[in-house]
Amino acid sequence: MNDLSRIVNGVRTLAIVCFQWGDTGKGKFVDFFAEWWADIIVRGTGGSNAGHTIRVGDKEYILHLVPSGILHDAAGKVNIIGSGVAFDPRQAIHEIHLLAAEGIRCANLKIALNAKLVLPHHMLLDRLRESSAGEGRIGTTGRGIGPVYVDHVGRSGLIVNDMLNPTVLARKLKRTLAEKKVLFDSYDPETARQILQHPDLGSGAFWDPRTTLNTDATVEQYVAWGKELSEFIDDTDEYVANRVGRQNILLEGAQGNLLSVDHGTYPYVTSSDCSVAGLAKGAGLHEHDVDLTLGIVKAFYMTRVGRGPFPTELGGPQSDAWCNQAGITAATEMQHHPALTVNDPDPFLQGIAIRRAGKEYGATTGRPRRVGWLDIPLVRLSRRLTGLNVILTKLDVLSECDEIPVCYSYEHDGPWYRYGRRLLYRGARHGDAIPDCDIMQSSKPRYTVFPGWNADITGLTSLEEAPEMLCYPIQYLQEEAGVNVVLWSVGPDRQQTILANDPILAKR
Ligand code: IMP
Repeated sequence: MNDLSRIVNGVRTLAIVCFQWGDTGKGKFVDFFAEWWADIIVRGTGGSNAGHTIRVGDKEYILHLVPSGILHDAAGKVNIIGSGVAFDPRQAIHEIHLLAAEGIRCANLKIALNAKLVLPHHMLLDRLRESSAGEGRIGTTGRGIGPVYVDHVGRSGLIVNDMLNPTVLARKLKRTLAEKKVLFDSYDPETARQILQHPDLGSGAFWDPRTTLNTDATVEQYVAWGKELSEFIDDTDEYVANRVGRQNILLEGAQGNLLSVDHGTYPYVTSSDCSVAGLAKGAGLHEHDVDLTLGIVKAFYMTRVGRGPFPTELGGPQSDAWCNQAGITAATEMQHHPALTVNDPDPFLQGIAIRRAGKEYGATTGRPRRVGWLDIPLVRLSRRLTGLNVILTKLDVLSECDEIPVCYSYEHDGPWYRYGRRLLYRGARHGDAIPDCDIMQSSKPRYTVFPGWNADITGLTSLEEAPEMLCYPIQYLQEEAGVNVVLWSVGPDRQQTILANDPILAKR
């Protein structure tokens, strides 16, 4: 641990964010720094759409809302669900109970009083939109995230504190539902009824045959949840701001830069800003309060859940269609494709084998994550947003691959397209990922292919023991993307972490 403590030398506020489309292993590193460094751990964005997996010994914990530092609650670490979060009280209570069953009391958990409250109509509208959008669907997690932030920006949202004030809750809820009547009326009532039978939506408790949503039942349930959560609800913006520079604060990102509503592959994004700027704001801070950001890059493959462009996807549109079909899970995929190897000559099948090797199935929805090779132009884009210090995760997954292709630039493979003053014509080569879906759909990757390292690296304890063939693509990534690899993760456990370089503290 001594060597690793060099990373946080002089750092008081550390942010951990993802450079890609989420699911890169933030949970492991938040837990890692929470154990020996942080005093306070704050989630600032997203909601129960996130799924953070932490492994300790034989146990695996999957958290959606409660910060990944909660396993260190008994050591007095304060875990905060910040004001930028879309807060679903049902999910939070569920996680608190699950943790209690494991002996974790959540004695130091705090929930921002001004976090955005997820209500039944948010989940209903999310699911109605997805079910009726056909090819226009995003592939959301159905947790109501988009509609919550729409209400917030549209100035008709509710906050966590409203659960503590029944009259205010009822007044605000009635007003916002009245505004939405026209919207509800535009959907098929039977589909709405069916969606409202889902256990995430109270198994029918919020359904009303005349008005679609039953306001009284909603108020009653949310007030009850508010009572159960009242001991945790606090002014966390003030709490965090008062401790900047005095205590060690760890900001836990959710999703990833490429899913950011402001910087990602819009419209195939989530509805919060997942970059460090959005994270700091949602935790009650300013970006300049952050001393060091570590961006996580899964290497040497990447994944995406839901729809949207993915230039290096193994199996291209076939993989996209397969993964976005309803009902495909790890088990059904195994039935269809039982024996595959990570060297399969068919890219679609190779993608399935890598997904299986990396256990790339959604922690929130169980959906298969689409799999593709590492895309350096996208790393460059994230570097611009986040800074240059990165953690490489999941390095052990491709240990049996004979070849490791790494995308270093694109060739425009579509009709000519103007992007501001730039003209992209068929055959034009460009090394920048432009987060414009029309351009990304036409970006054909160009690869440098490295030989695989063909060795089990899960027991590595230092860089000196690393196979030479693993070092080459890492060196290439550093040079091509201009990043500084600080840590290597060679397995899910905390101790499977190797220090590669000290961070460069200049922010950009
Ligand atoms: P939403 O956040 O549920 O609205 O979903 C919008 C898009 O973000 C969809 O493509 C989701 O699959 C994706 N998404 C949301 N949360 C996560 C996550 O934690 N990991 C990976 N993808 C996510």
